[in-house]
Amino acid sequence: MGGSMPASTVTIGPVRSVEGVVRVPGDKSISHRYAMLASLAQGVSRFHNFSAAQDCASTLSCVAALGASWRRADTDSAIEVSGTGMSLKTPASPLDCGNSGSTMRMLSGILAAQPFSTELFGDASLSRRPMARIIRPLSEMGATISSSQGDRPPLIIRGARLHSIHYRPEVASAQVKSCILFAGLFADGETIVDEPIRTRDHGELALQAFGAAIDRHANAVRIRGHQRLSAIEARVPGDLSSAAFFLCAAALFPGSRLLLPGILVNPTRARLLDRLIQMGLAISVAQVNEHHGELVGSVEARGSVWKGGLIAGRDTAALIDEIPVLAAIAPYSENGLEVRDAAELRVKESDRIAAVAANLRKMGAEVEERPDGLLIPGRQQLHGAELDSFSDHRIAMAFAVAALRAHGPTVISGADAAAVSYPSFFEDLRTVTAA
Ligand code: S3P
Repeated sequence: MGGSMPASTVTIGPVRSVEGVVRVPGDKSISHRYAMLASLAQGVSRFHNFSAAQDCASTLSCVAALGASWRRADTDSAIEVSGTGMSLKTPASPLDCGNSGSTMRMLSGILAAQPFSTELFGDASLSRRPMARIIRPLSEMGATISSSQGDRPPLIIRGARLHSIHYRPEVASAQVKSCILFAGLFADGETIVDEPIRTRDHGELALQAFGAAIDRHANAVRIRGHQRLSAIEARVPGDLSSAAFFLCAAALFPGSRLLLPGILVNPTRARLLDRLIQMGLAISVAQVNEHHGELVGSVEARGSVWKGGLIAGRDTAALIDEIPVLAAIAPYSENGLEVRDAAELRVKESDRIAAVAANLRKMGAEVEERPDGLLIPGRQQLHGAELDSFSDHRIAMAFAVAALRAHGPTVISGADAAAVSYPSFFEDLRTVTAA
């Protein structure tokens, strides 16, 4: 495989094997939360292996506009964020969240409690994404939020003295949970978020790391208001959702062998590993460590026969970011893949159900697209094709992986979208694939 002109177009040829070591960037979900909480904390926080994602750069520039300066450390590649001691300043202009739903949704929780108004906007994709899920609870807590075309960005958030709520979100969303908990940090009384399905818990763990008291029982999380945060030093674990592209590449080639050191294996994210094992990838996790509540391990994977399977219910929520790549490689599986209960995929950075179906069909695959999922038969051979990333990082990377076993080269336009979560993805893929 190799990059080709123009810059945003990448050509991926078929390869014979996948082997080597990949160090994926720091986890995006954790990096966002660390940057936001560091902006509120007292003191200077230091983060090693902070995500290189454009999305996290959006968060850093937003918190900088709110008065928390950040810089790269002179001595190593860590970043340092100087906190404001819970006193953010009024930003001089609207805050640009870029492509990042996490930035907009989670930062809104903090902004809802500030004694000023803030406007938040994003790119064309983010401007289409639903915000009622955060507007509703934050309004109940006392903020005034206006949006455009129903509940779409830009958002104008007029902050207020918040009161606590007991909230049961309708959608299973960690962004919504973190948004409400961050607002709860400033509210009078005790705020409770009771989730329908347990989602990733990085918000809770990060709040605890910065010194906030949190109570967790079953799917309910409670936070008392008016707590203060203190700066931390932390190493961000490698992003499991980025590692997923390499694990799926390994799954396509019997005999492949990959080592991914320092990967996040937090149980609320690691269902992916269980399901990959069930579907035919041999995985072992060694050198497991805990840091600020987050589990990190060295993940080794060996390809054998890729079976595919069913993803539904809780698994759909747990694997929501990895479904595009699992679907992209499904035609090569023995039994195919069925995805159910995944309507949320239609309101991600692109309509990921439609994007996966369109690209797989261009590669010659048979696919059934459903309102909330996909049915992709197995034992299909794909051919290279001209594909579109739909300006969606995970679609660009998912089809780079699917292209590794197709007949002939695949051209992906808009491949630079990968930088939204993983700027060096194509270089890293090149280092572990051999034509
Ligand atoms: C994220 C939660 C998920 C996920 C997104 C990151 C987070 O979104 O898809 O990439 O960091 O909390 P939802 O909260 O919308 O499920």
